[in-house]
Parts: sequence; C-alpha cells; structure tokens
Amino acid sequence: MKTEVNICGIKFKNPVVTASGTYGFGDEYGQFYDISRLGAVCVKGLTLAKRDGNIPPRIAETPSGILNSVGLQNPGVDAFISDYLPRLIDKGATVIANISGNSIEDYCEMAKRLAGTKTHMLEMNISCPNVKQGGMAFGTNPDTVYEITKEVKKYAAQPLIVKLSPNVTDITQTAKAAEAGGADAISLINTLTGMKIDINTRKPILYNNIGGLSGPAVKPVAVRMVWQCRNAVSIPIIGMGGIASGEDAIEFMLAGANAVAVGTYNFVNPNACIDVINGIEDYMKKHNIDDINDIVGKVILNG
Ligand SMILES: Cc1cc2nc3c(=O)[nH]c(=O)nc-3n(C[C@H](O)[C@H](O)[C@H](O)COP(=O)(O)O)c2cc1C
Repeated sequence: MKTEVNICGIKFKNPVVTASGTYGFGDEYGQFYDISRLGAVCVKGLTLAKRDGNIPPRIAETPSGILNSVGLQNPGVDAFISDYLPRLIDKGATVIANISGNSIEDYCEMAKRLAGTKTHMLEMNISCPNVKQGGMAFGTNPDTVYEITKEVKKYAAQPLIVKLSPNVTDITQTAKAAEAGGADAISLINTLTGMKIDINTRKPILYNNIGGLSGPAVKPVAVRMVWQCRNAVSIPIIGMGGIASGEDAIEFMLAGANAVAVGTYNFVNPNACIDVINGIEDYMKKHNIDDINDIVGKVILNG
C-alpha cells in the first residue's frame, strides 16, 4: 500500500499533517509518539517579533468545536530558527513554517530569514489584518491575495502554501488569486469567525469578544470549500477543518485534498494524527486501494 504523497516536490510519508497552532512546535506531542511518523509538522504561526498573544480567556468550547482568540502567541521567527527548528529536524520531521504578518513586508522578511534554513515548506496565513489597508484581512480580498503571494514568492526558497480564509463569499476567487500569484499549493480552511456570549453576565466569553471557530462543527463547510477549490485550481490542496478520524480525512481527499491536516482534535485526543493515519490505512485495505493518491478528487457526484 502506498500512502506517500508528493506536495510540490516534498515527499510526505503519508497525507497527514498537523494544523498550525494546535501542535506548538512538536515538543509536547513527542511524548505520545515519534513525530517523524507524520506526513509533516506545521508549526504555530510565526511572526517577525515574539508575541505574547491576546488576554485570556482565549478559548471557549462550543457544540462540536472551539472558539479561539489566541492571537498568534509565538517566540518569533529568529527563535524558531535557532531553538525550535533544529529539534524538529533532529526528530526527523518534515517541517512547514506557518508565517503571519501585518504587512507584505513582514511576510517577505520572514520568507527571507527562513530561506537559508532546513524548513521544508512555508505556509502563509493570510487571515491577519492588513494594517496598511485599514485592518481588513489580507485573505478576504482576491487582489491582495494575488499581490502578497507574488511578492512573497520572490523571497521564498521553499514551496509556498497559501492558507485560505473561509470568511469569504466565494473561496474560489481567493484560491484562483493565490494560484495566479504563484502559490505552489493552497491549504484550507482557517477558522470561521464566531462569538459566544454568557447570558448571565451578558459578556462575550472570549476577552477579544470574537474568535475563530474550529473542530468537527466546521467540517461540512471545509469539505464543501475544498471541493469547490479542487474544481477551480490545479495546484495541490491541503484540506483541514474538523478532522477527527481516518474517515474524515478520506472525505477531504475524495473532495480533492492531496493531503490533510488535523487541528483541534489533537486537543481531544493527543494521538489523533496517528489514529487518522491508521484509519486511512484501514480504509485503503477495506476498499482495495493500493495508492492513496488514486482517491484524490474521486467523489462521485449525484445527478
Ligand atoms: C488554538 C488554535 C490556534 C490556531 N493558530 C493558527 C495559526 O497560528 N496559524 C494558522 O494558520 N492557523 C491557526 N489555526 C487554525 C488551524 O490551523 C486550522 O486551520 C483550523 O483550526 C481548522 O482545523 P481544525 O478544525 O482541525 O482545528 C489555529 C487553530 C486553533 C484551534
């Protein structure tokens, strides 16, 4: 059985990746299993300077999901390169560095600093506010998505994945803009904007008032968006949003994902990624599939 997938020339031993922000830098999960068993490890979103993140409460539980407003707490790109990346490489992980910024210059500078390192791929999180354009997220405007992708590609030494926001009317517009700008792959979905209010205090649960919804609650939205993007672009897609089992991963792959990421479910089950890998293999055995790549985009539509 072949579970290996090739994403823009980088070989993943299986299609299962960690979703940024739910796996730190791999240190904690290393207590549960050998992280080199994963297709790849995508690390917490990095910014140019260290960030402490937002004021707590930063996580709120919702039916079948969570709302978070962690606010990109991270040690900064330079500390990642000097302290965290070598540990991941020593453990044999394939590493995706997730980068965030408030200006195109921030993203370009991070791509430049990561260029000479052993990082295998870059994932650009464009759900951050574009400070120069009044705070609207980069990822919601196709023109800005095109512009930022084109600029960052000039400095990126590694394949560039553009991570799309689901907080748009038509995700195929931003997917096409990323492809036109030179993205090597896209990943989706990031979190859906949400809010939870304590009816007794009448205050939002999150200090930040609003946050991003993730977990099984968002899965049908994510599968639909992956399927729409598969029909809109030809570059590889990493699908995510609520994956908790091998069956969930297969659903994303049938919709058109070449690889998948497991996020929030790592908090429920620290072995979630391994369970998803095993579940994919069980499905392959049951359905006599020799090569996992053969099921990508193979949903059989009605009508
Ligand atoms: C606590 C938390 C922190 C996150 N931080 C990031 C981040 O730093 N960068 C990013 O691109 N996505 C971040 N995400 C989004 C996830 O990577 C993923 O796109 C989303 O949660 C959907 O997948 P899931 O439902 O499996 O969690 C975060 C999600 C959660 C729950």
